[in-house]
Amino acid sequence: MQEFVTVNFETGAMDGHLKYGESNIGDLVGFFEDEAARKALPQNLVVYQVQSYCPEAEGTEGGLFFGVSKVLPGLVGDEYFMTKGHFHAEEDTAEFYWGITGQGLLLCMDEQGRTTCRQISPGVLLYIPRRSAHRLVNTGNSVLTVGACWPSNAGHNYDRIRRTGFSVRVKNINGAVSVVPTSD
Ligand code: PA5
Ligand code: NI
Repeated sequence: MQEFVTVNFETGAMDGHLKYGESNIGDLVGFFEDEAARKALPQNLVVYQVQSYCPEAEGTEGGLFFGVSKVLPGLVGDEYFMTKGHFHAEEDTAEFYWGITGQGLLLCMDEQGRTTCRQISPGVLLYIPRRSAHRLVNTGNSVLTVGACWPSNAGHNYDRIRRTGFSVRVKNINGAVSVVPTSD
């Protein structure tokens, strides 16, 4: 097996022995606020894709993984396309995200449910502290491409986000990007 992968840092294109994941509208039941709007869209419409280089077995302590996520532009009702978002299964693990193409927001929510919202665009490097759920939102008209590096023992825990979501949602209201508290 080849000992390296290649990454184009202007486009986010990766090549080599990679893992590939894709989430479409049909996979995202329960993540968007407007379920009727989600159901009305083509279920095979791609919302985001992730390529990752995982040179260690998942769960190994002391290793690192590297990935590139691409969130397509679009709306479910008035809510921008976004990733599911997750806490790390191993809670005391952090992560770096950096913008490659497009425009968006990174939501980070602590265990008390307090969410911070930071802009991400090409060249911006954002640190996601441990014990903090994270979600990417594409607020632009082009693909939001974001690089990521995280510990190989971090894992992904989607349960809490599936149940309670983040404490804010990012919507297009009258043409403007609006961060609004999540309604119960
Ligand atoms: O490890 C990460 O945080 C990223 O690679 C995400 O997994 C990726 O952006 C997809 O998001 P999610 O795992 O929330 O579906
Ligand atoms: Ni993560």
